[in-house]
Amino acid sequence: MSNTIRIAVVGSGYVGLVAAVCFAEMGHNVICVDNDQQKVDALRSGDCLIHEAHLPELLERYRNSRVRFTNDLGEATRGADAVFIAVGTPQGDSGVADLSYVEAVASEIARSLNSYTVIVEKSTVPVYTNEWIRRVMERNGVAKHLFDVVSNPEFLREGTAVRDFLHPDRIVVGTDSERAAAVLSKIYEPLTSGGYYEQPGAIDGFCTSSEPPPLLLTSTKSAEIIKHASNAFLALKISFINAVSNLCEAANADVEQVARGIGMDSRIGPRFLRPGIGYGGSCFPKDVAAFRCVAEELGVDFSLLAEVEKVNKDQKIRFLNKVRSALWTLRGKKLGVLGLSFKGGTDDIRESPAIELVRMLIAEGCSIRAFDPAAMTRAEHVLPAGSSLQYVSDEYAASNDVDALLILTDWSEFGRLDLQRLNRLMRYPIVVDGRNLYEPDVMLKNGITYFSVGRPTRHHMHELAATGTR
Ligand SMILES: NC(=O)c1ccc[n+]([C@@H]2O[C@H](COP(=O)([O-])OP(=O)(O)OC[C@H]3O[C@@H](n4cnc5c(N)ncnc54)[C@H](O)[C@@H]3O)[C@@H](O)[C@H]2O)c1
Repeated sequence: MSNTIRIAVVGSGYVGLVAAVCFAEMGHNVICVDNDQQKVDALRSGDCLIHEAHLPELLERYRNSRVRFTNDLGEATRGADAVFIAVGTPQGDSGVADLSYVEAVASEIARSLNSYTVIVEKSTVPVYTNEWIRRVMERNGVAKHLFDVVSNPEFLREGTAVRDFLHPDRIVVGTDSERAAAVLSKIYEPLTSGGYYEQPGAIDGFCTSSEPPPLLLTSTKSAEIIKHASNAFLALKISFINAVSNLCEAANADVEQVARGIGMDSRIGPRFLRPGIGYGGSCFPKDVAAFRCVAEELGVDFSLLAEVEKVNKDQKIRFLNKVRSALWTLRGKKLGVLGLSFKGGTDDIRESPAIELVRMLIAEGCSIRAFDPAAMTRAEHVLPAGSSLQYVSDEYAASNDVDALLILTDWSEFGRLDLQRLNRLMRYPIVVDGRNLYEPDVMLKNGITYFSVGRPTRHHMHELAATGTR
C-alpha cells in the first residue's frame, strides 16, 4: 500500500470538512461528498461556510487538488480505499439517535462498492451501529470480503477543530479486522509516527515528533462506547460543577475557588469544571440522551445520565430567575445579550443555551439587543429580528440604554470589555454573567452591580453604603 491513501469523506459539516482538509494536510487524496449542492458549490469556490481557525487556509491550499468536492457518493466510493461517514446523527424520538442519514449513506455505498473498502464510522453512533451497517451491506449483496466496518470516533471541539484533529489526545480505532486496522494505521501514520509535526508549516499544537499521539486499537463496539462515554462523562462534569455552584450560592461561597480546589486534584483535573448556564451544542445533549437510551435498551440502569440532563435543564431556568431577581420583573425590560453560539470560538448555535434563554426572555416580555462575533447570521434563521429582538454590531451597541447586560457565551473578548464605557452606556449598570468572565471586585470598582454563577452577588450601591464611600 502506498503512503497516500484515497479517502472519501461523506458529509462536509464541522467534522467531515475538517477531517477532509486535515487528511489532505497529512498527505492523502480526499473526495468530500455532500448531498447539499449549495454546500458543494460554496466549498468548491473556497467558501468554508463554518467559522473555524485554520480551516480557510487549509481549504485554500488543497481545494481542487488534494481535496475535491462532489455530490456523487457512488463515484467517490468507487475510487476510495476508505470511506468515512461523517453525516449528522441527530436526536430522534425520546432521545434515541436518528441513524437514518447513516443508513442512507451505507445503502448508497453498498450500491457502488466494487473492490475492498474500509467503511469508517466517524459520526457519533450508538454501540451496535457497525453491525447494522454490515447488515445493510450484506442485504445489498456486497460480498463479506469486499468491506470491513471500523469505528473511528472523532473528539474534535468546535472552535479548535483543525488543531484538535491534527493534535489529538488519542486516535481510537475500533475494528475486529487486521486488514482494516492496517488501512487506518496507515492513514494516521503521519500523526502517530510524528512525521507530520516536522513538516514545514505544520499546524502548531501540543503533539510533537518526539511526543506523537497514540493510536488505541479496540474492538468495534468498545470504540463506539468510548465516544458516547467520553461525551457523557464531560457533560456529567459540567452538571456536577453546576450543582456545586447552586450549593455555593445557597452557602454564600465562591464556586470559582471551589472549582480551583477540586481541579488541583490530579485525579480530577481542572477542565470542564466551569460553572455556567449549562452545556449545549450539537453533541453533548444528543449524545447523553442517546447513551441513556442505549443503556435502557440493553436493560442497564444508568439513571445517573437522566440526572445529568435534569441539572443541565434546570441551570437555564435558574439563570432566567437570576435575571428576574436582578430586575424584579421582566416584562417590558430592555436587555443586552452578549453571545448566541453555544460556546465561544464557534458560530454553531445548535442546542445553544444562549438561544434558548433569548427565547425565554422574549416570551417573558423583554426586548433584546443581541451581539455575537460569529453566530448572528445563523441565529437570525431561528430567531428572526423583530420588535423584541435586534441584532447589533458590537458589545457596546448591545449595552446601549439597557436595563441589564447578560453574558451568555464565553467568547474571550467578552471578558475584556471597557467597563467604564459599559457603565456609561447602560441605563442601569447591572451585568448578569452566565459564564463568570469577570472577577466580581473588578465589576464593583467600575460601578457595576454584578450577578454571576455560584458566587456571592456584588451590589455596587450596597457595598458603597457599607464602606461609607461613593
Ligand atoms: N460537531 C462536532 O463538534 C462533533 C464532534 C465530534 C463528533 N461529531 C459527530 O459527527 C457527526 C457529524 O457532525 P457535524 O457537526 O459535522 O454535522 P453537520 O450537520 O455539520 O454536517 C453533516 C453533513 O452531512 C451532510 N449529509 C447528510 N446526509 C448526507 C448524505 N446522504 N450524503 C452526503 N452528505 C450528507 C449534510 O448536508 C451536512 O453537510 C455527528 O454524528 C456528530 O455527533 C460532531
